[in-house]
Amino acid sequence: MEGDALKGKSILVGVTGGIAAYKSCELVSRMRQRGAEVRVVMTEAACRFVAPLTFRVLSGNPVSCDLFADPGQWDVAHVSLADAAQLVVIAPATANCVGKLASGIADDLLTTVVMATRAPVLIVPAMNEAMYNNPVFQANKKRLESLGYHFMDPAVGRLACGKIGTGRMPEPEDIISEVARLLSGQETPSMLAGRTLLVTAGPTREPIDPVRFITNRSSGKMGYALAEAALESGARVILVTGPTCLEAPPGCEVVRVERARDMHAAVTQRFNSCDCVVMAAAVADYEPAQFSPSKIKKGSHELSLRLTRTPDILESLGKVKGNRILVGFAAETGDVVANAMQKLKDKNLDLVVANDVARQDTGFESDDNEVIMVFRDGREIAVPKAPKKEIARRIMLEIARLFWGREG
Ligand code: C5P
Repeated sequence: MEGDALKGKSILVGVTGGIAAYKSCELVSRMRQRGAEVRVVMTEAACRFVAPLTFRVLSGNPVSCDLFADPGQWDVAHVSLADAAQLVVIAPATANCVGKLASGIADDLLTTVVMATRAPVLIVPAMNEAMYNNPVFQANKKRLESLGYHFMDPAVGRLACGKIGTGRMPEPEDIISEVARLLSGQETPSMLAGRTLLVTAGPTREPIDPVRFITNRSSGKMGYALAEAALESGARVILVTGPTCLEAPPGCEVVRVERARDMHAAVTQRFNSCDCVVMAAAVADYEPAQFSPSKIKKGSHELSLRLTRTPDILESLGKVKGNRILVGFAAETGDVVANAMQKLKDKNLDLVVANDVARQDTGFESDDNEVIMVFRDGREIAVPKAPKKEIARRIMLEIARLFWGREG
C-alpha cells in the first residue's frame, strides 16, 4: 500500500525503555527492507530490554545512545542526527519520554534530537492501560499534538502486565503505513482545529481611470500557500484576495477584492469572527486622489498624479485586536530584522514574517521564500530557503504555538 514511500528516506527510530522494544527490531528490519536509511537512537532504559548490537545489525548503521559520547568525527551527534532525519519515529514511546518532550526536557540523546529536529515526529506510545489513561499522560499527549507532533493510538490486546486492554504497541506493518502516509505529506495535523484564520493575499489595484491602475508586485503565492497550510492544520479559513492568477485552495471561503479600501472593509467586517489574521497581501500604500471615469487622454506634456494614503489595514486591526493573533509581513531591502521589529511594535502585532526582497532567488513571483520570523518577545526564527508551501506550514506551527502559549 505504501509503495516506495520509504525508499531512500532517512528515518530516525527512537527506542525507549518498554517491553515493546523487541517489536522495534522488526520495525527497523522491515523499514530497511523497504529501502529506508534507518538510524536508531536508544535511551539507557531501552538498552536494558534490547542490546544496541541487535539494532546495529538490523539497521546496518551505528546505534547512538549517549549524549556525551566522543564523536568519531567532528560533528555534534544530536544536531547531525536531527538534521539528517526526514522523519522521526519513537516506538515504543514510554510515558516518561512523552512527559519529557511535552515539558521541554532534553536530558538524553533521544529527547535532545527530537527537540533539535525540523522533521515530523511520530510518537507510538506503548504502556499499561492505566498509565495510558492517566490524565497527566493524556494532557502531555494533547499538548504535543497541539504543537504538531503525530501520535498513533495503541492497540488493544494482552499487555505485558497480563491484563487485556489498550496500550499495546501497534504492529510494525501498521507503524510503517503511518510512516509512509506522513512521508508522502498526507498528514492532517489538527493543531488549528476550531480556529478561524483570515488570510489576505495578492496585490491590490488602485484605479486611475477605467483602464489603468497602480499596483504592487505580488503573485499571491505566499498568501495562498498560507491559506492551504491553515486548512491542512484544521482551521476554518477566509481568504481575502486581491487579483491573482491562482486557484484558491478548495475548502476556504474566498472574498475577492480589488482596492485597498475594499480589502480593508472585507477584513474589518469579518474581524469579529476571527481568531487570527495573517496579512500576506501586498496592499498599495497610495491610491490616486481622484478617479477619472473616462480614459485619460495622452497629451504632449507631463502628467502628474496626486496620490493619497490608503488605510493601513493591519494598523487599524492592531488597535482593536483583543486577544486575536495578528501576523504581518515585511518586505524589506535592508535592516530586515530591525525594521520588522519596528513594524511589530507600531502595528501591535504578534509576529512579523520578514523577507529580504532585494534577493533575486526568493520572494515575489518565486516559488521559494526565505524568511525570518520576529516575535513580540524579541525571538527571531530564521527559516532557510524552502518552497512557499513549506514556509507556510512552518508559520502555521508558530501561530499554533502562539495560541497554545496563551492557553498553556
Ligand atoms: O508598513 P508596511 O506596508 O511595510 O507593512 C506591511 C504589512 O502591513 C503587511 O502585512 C501588509 O499586508 C500590511 N499592510 C496593510 N495595509 C496597508 C499596507 C500594508 O495591512 N495599507
